[in-house]
Amino acid sequence: MTAKMEEIEGAKQSIGFNGSLPLKGYDREILLSEMQGAKENDANWREGKTWSLVYHKDQQHETFLKQAYSNYFSENYLNPMAFSSLRRYEHEVVRMCADLLRGDSDVVGTITSGGTESILLAIKAYRDRAREKRRFLRRPNMIVPDTVHVAFDKAAHYFDVDIIRAPLDENMCVDIKAVKKLINRNTILLIGSAPNYPYGTVDDITALGKLAKKFKLPLHVDACVGGFMLPFVRELGGAIPAFDFEVPGVTSMSVDVHKYGYAAKGASVILYKNMDYLKYQFVVCSDWCGGVYASPTLQGTRSGGSVAAAWAALNSIGRTGYVDLARETMAITEKLKQGINAIDGLEVIASPKMTIFAYLSTDEDLNVFVVADVMEKKGWHIDRQQKPNSLHAMVTVNHQTHYQKYLDDLKEAVLIARQQPDLAQQGNAAMYGMVAQIPLRGLVKNNVLKMMESMYSSENKIFGNDLDSIGNNQVAELGIKVLASFNKIKRRLNGLLDSSRRK
Ligand SMILES: Cc1ncc(COP(=O)(O)O)c(C=O)c1O
Repeated sequence: MTAKMEEIEGAKQSIGFNGSLPLKGYDREILLSEMQGAKENDANWREGKTWSLVYHKDQQHETFLKQAYSNYFSENYLNPMAFSSLRRYEHEVVRMCADLLRGDSDVVGTITSGGTESILLAIKAYRDRAREKRRFLRRPNMIVPDTVHVAFDKAAHYFDVDIIRAPLDENMCVDIKAVKKLINRNTILLIGSAPNYPYGTVDDITALGKLAKKFKLPLHVDACVGGFMLPFVRELGGAIPAFDFEVPGVTSMSVDVHKYGYAAKGASVILYKNMDYLKYQFVVCSDWCGGVYASPTLQGTRSGGSVAAAWAALNSIGRTGYVDLARETMAITEKLKQGINAIDGLEVIASPKMTIFAYLSTDEDLNVFVVADVMEKKGWHIDRQQKPNSLHAMVTVNHQTHYQKYLDDLKEAVLIARQQPDLAQQGNAAMYGMVAQIPLRGLVKNNVLKMMESMYSSENKIFGNDLDSIGNNQVAELGIKVLASFNKIKRRLNGLLDSSRRK
């Protein structure tokens, strides 16, 4: 060990957190080393252990993106007029996405920080447009497929637009007849996904487009995850139904460059059919004493890095590069789906159109949540879903060298789950199973809210090492709380019933 390394090791012990700024700053090398160490318990995406969250192409691409990003590390894209090079990149990224999704030269849009921001902005734009054009609008609502990404719930919450969920048909796509029935005089927008996150199925955008035209409503297509995959799968001869601006009635699309576009995090594009939609996204404050403030997106200060890296990624990979990536990723996905379907008791749900899918248990003696727990003991990070209980996978090219091990481990996990059915009553399997089944969803919601309060309380010192949005340890805690509340309500109801019987 060199003297410097010894110094770092020694100092590491003393980097303690006492609730305040350190009186004197630490040595940078010591801090970098501390952070490297802190990462040890994080999800191991480099070795393909995660099936969501990180889209990794290869080491050289990562290094290149970092260079592109760091060239604009300090630039602030708050003011597009101050950094003309960033404005040029944004323009070119938007045009490339519009072209990819078969939009004409009227299609316009902006770069945002991610799929959620693109979706939030679309809902804000449609709400404001409807308010202006439909004077007698009461409570605006949007009709979404049951599978639509939760970013739409968030938008509904923030912008006070009601969200009406349409059920699915037997193919796990939105039921078009149900959508038609749900449209009412306060409906301002229809939505379809290409594809949806839970099952990877593509809604019938052509049929939604016809409904949109008939009822004179706009139609947003969420292609956040599919925008940089479906066009290339189609080019490879895959049976991809029409889903983009080519479909009459489609008025906007969201597409994430930081997903299958393999850009750095913080880059999505929101596209509108023409300026008559985009203009409702903008906010201009002309009376502020700080000056006239015009803002195209949600954020104020925003990184120039992610805009630059998005431009660099698209120009470096190019169309043939994306087609190659799609070919390779689809091949891995096919092998995974075939391997899973070949395991007795497991089945891929519906017909996923690209590289994202879910699978469930077809055998009541086999609990998928137990399979998930066993897989996690083997080092995999597994995403669990409900309605139906299932496990999810989003495949990237980085899984090439890892998918066979996943399948081998999965076979073994299924055997263990069958041999030890009691595991369903323990740990996360019991909790996820119970949380998915409990009929009182408000109860689950309230308990999750309480859990978030405790996670963000000033005293919290538990950071966990799980990537689920609510975390495995917390799920266990939540399950116990929900169960306790459920039993309390049951006891109270039984008591009431008993006393009314006695009367
Ligand atoms: C279909 C779909 N829409 C929207 C989003 C939200 O994107 P982001 O996480 O970048 O905000 C996702 C994320 O996975 C998605 O799969």
